[in-house]
Amino acid sequence: MLSLSIIFFSSIILTTPEFRSFMLLLPKTSQLPDDPILGLIPLYNQDPRPEKMNLAIGGYKDGNGLPVVMNAVRKAELALYEQHLNKEYLPIDGDPLFRSETIKLIFGQDSSLIPANSIHCAQTIGASGALTVGAEFLKELNIHSIAISDPTWTNHSSLFHHAGLQITEYSYYDRITHEINFEKMCDSINRLPQGTAILLQTCCHNPTGCDPTEEQWEYLSSLIDDRGLFPFFDCAYQGFDRGIAEDTRGIRIFTKKNIPLCIAYSYSKNFGLYGERVGALCTITGNSDSIEVRSHINRLIRGNYSSPPLQGARIVTTILTNPELKNEWNIQLDQMRERIYTMRLSLADKLAKKISEDFDFVKKQRGMFGFIKTNPDQIMALREQYGIYMPLSGRISIPGLTEHNIDAFVDALKNVF
Ligand code: LMR
Repeated sequence: MLSLSIIFFSSIILTTPEFRSFMLLLPKTSQLPDDPILGLIPLYNQDPRPEKMNLAIGGYKDGNGLPVVMNAVRKAELALYEQHLNKEYLPIDGDPLFRSETIKLIFGQDSSLIPANSIHCAQTIGASGALTVGAEFLKELNIHSIAISDPTWTNHSSLFHHAGLQITEYSYYDRITHEINFEKMCDSINRLPQGTAILLQTCCHNPTGCDPTEEQWEYLSSLIDDRGLFPFFDCAYQGFDRGIAEDTRGIRIFTKKNIPLCIAYSYSKNFGLYGERVGALCTITGNSDSIEVRSHINRLIRGNYSSPPLQGARIVTTILTNPELKNEWNIQLDQMRERIYTMRLSLADKLAKKISEDFDFVKKQRGMFGFIKTNPDQIMALREQYGIYMPLSGRISIPGLTEHNIDAFVDALKNVF
């Protein structure tokens, strides 16, 4: 009976003139372009060529180009399964143990230096959830614009735009020297109006792989503080530059100076939990009490996606609270970082040999990405002629390279150069 009525009503909906006229209200241009990064997944999946290469998505792959589920994650999943846990809702800002472990991971030993009542951490849907909730929180602080680096992760502007922030850019990467142009960067930061937020990537800058040095972080922290700007850190690659403890040095330099800030944190890459969407929003608010901050963040989360998902956070907490699993996770993370670095060095050497240009800058870039000068026509030729998928920015996801495909990649690149 129920299915009969469903068929009846859906046939009315699909054939009535009202429905057709509603369709006509959509503007002719309503089909938007695919997402520049994630939009490449279906195209890659549909490509039948066996030699195709996925250098598009910033995700770790093993020496055979396959996705990796970390050993500690598998063990944590098994342990969780055996506990027969229920699936009740989490609190709005997530599991308290997950939240305190996240603070420890970001701040390490220094976490004890931050007064407990000035730091708040909420579990979020990946770092993207944290960027969105964080942006909405900025508006509650009467901050309505944010400056992002030129260039940055393509989705930053989308997320902030949808959260209702105005977006400006500050100078960052020099496309000739392949380095940060620090003087220009500071100059443009100096010109940002007081009360603007500034997005800073903690390490392994996406897409350029160029990060400030420790001295530059020191300088930036004073500049940003003096200018009355609000720092918002995006921390998506902790562990992929030098190691867990070292990779949040920029944030720690700011917090030592008691500068209020937000951090959007991702467990996608360093725990390989991409599709589980595990992240956190940490807020350090100087004099404000974290209880007040928590009430605002909770209201924003509840009005957005209600409460965060369970399983990914349970996996992270199980690993971080078990010394043996934590050690195993750390060792495998080190190995992943080493493999990417080996491929990076090999890529730079092979490019220099084949293309007879200096590619040493690729060796200096950090983290998952290599960033070389290519134009959209060349990227499209790589895709169409060789089945090599990269975003049009020229960003290469280095973990997609292996000893088996790197020569083919360099040859293809030489041919389209
Ligand atoms: C990337 O930059 O490739 C990743 O962060 C995946 C994404 O969401 O874009």
